[in-house]
Amino acid sequence: MQPFTFHNPTRIVFGPGTTARIGKETKACGRRALLLYGKGSAERTGVLGRVRDSLNQAGLQWEALGGVRPNPVLNFAREAIAFFRQQRLDVIVAVGGGSVIDTAKTIAAGARYDGEVWDFFSGRAEVKTAAPITTVLTLAATGSEMNSGGVITNEESQEKYHLASPSLYPQCSILDPVNTFTVPRDHSMYGAVDAMIHLLEGYFNAGEEDLPLQDRLVEGLLRTLMEAAEVVYHEPENYPARANLMWGATLALNGLTTAGTGNTGFPMHMIEHSLSAIYDIAHGAGLSIVGPAWMRYASARAPRKFAQFAERIFGIDQGTASQRAQAGIEALEKWFVARGVPTRLPEANIPEQDIPRIAANARRLAEVWGLDDYTQREIEAVLEHAGAATARSAGR
Ligand code: NZQ
Ligand code: ZN
Repeated sequence: MQPFTFHNPTRIVFGPGTTARIGKETKACGRRALLLYGKGSAERTGVLGRVRDSLNQAGLQWEALGGVRPNPVLNFAREAIAFFRQQRLDVIVAVGGGSVIDTAKTIAAGARYDGEVWDFFSGRAEVKTAAPITTVLTLAATGSEMNSGGVITNEESQEKYHLASPSLYPQCSILDPVNTFTVPRDHSMYGAVDAMIHLLEGYFNAGEEDLPLQDRLVEGLLRTLMEAAEVVYHEPENYPARANLMWGATLALNGLTTAGTGNTGFPMHMIEHSLSAIYDIAHGAGLSIVGPAWMRYASARAPRKFAQFAERIFGIDQGTASQRAQAGIEALEKWFVARGVPTRLPEANIPEQDIPRIAANARRLAEVWGLDDYTQREIEAVLEHAGAATARSAGR
């Protein structure tokens, strides 16, 4: 096991009815709140009303700002930073999924910085301090509610990059699984895929081979997320399944499962970010395409861990390591297909002829992330596994 420091300061308040506690939790961090939310689901479902009531009861002053879009963009965040400063606000309450929480993190960092907020994403500056954030999570997926990162798209350059800093962990996140009952089926499944791939990035890209504790943490979470997603697919209001999906997705990217794994790259995410930056598809939909493609590419070089995955997740124990690895990836892909998520570029209306363009975009992020092995050609090789021809040979 590699040396590590694990410190996750986010306070989690979990359970039905906990939205009513957001006012008190936020009052511990500030007096004048920016109430940030998305395109309209929070108002429609009633969660925003419950948040407003709770902020009022706690005696907080607040200004509302809606309109954060999925795959959130830099220009919106810039305007929100100006608004935050102009109104002399001191805390952000983010009500939504990853897009709203990531925008809150961008505002929080930008509000305490004299320069251009994109500097944090491009690697030109580090976040030293940030305004405090509290969240009411409405969609189980990204883990942003309990981690220190955020992702934004620069719409002019089509760069979907991330910022990270210990000062960006939310102070408190309210996780009420009932708030996720209304998430449409497609987004529920994209969220499950996202959490699964967060686990698998660490699992397949760990800095060393022998990690029995981390492996079993990942395998246990993965199996639980899959079981929960299967139930939610048919029964969106099943509380135990929504609860497992919600807490499981949070644990999948809060630093727990990668503590001790050494430096893990996130190559599937690196490539996916180009898909959602260029074609504006949901992040989880991009991952269900890139995930199996990357696994085919990587397992051809080093099948052992993929064979372990096949055996422990899908009970595949026949054949050579290579054969088991391939069977495991196929089983995962079948599971994705049964959940209604795309697994090939054309299924998301992405022309295969665009592979060089996507790879060029991803290559720029590889440079920022220091994933030097991923040259333009290697990224193209990954994406070629996501073409329609592969679908035909797989008999689909
Ligand atoms: O905008 P509204 O109207 O609120 O609708 C949203 C949106 O259309 C809807 N929704 C959310 N909660 C709902 C609901 N609809 C009904 N009932 C509810 N309770 O769902 C749609 C998707 O929301 P979004 O926030 O975009 O989804 P998600 O949570 O998957 O976030 C995706 C973003 O997070 C980034 C992704 O790249 C993407 O930009 N990520 C953030 C990470 C992080 N900060 O750690 C890590 C991830 O790898 C990821 O990159
Ligand atoms: Zn992700």
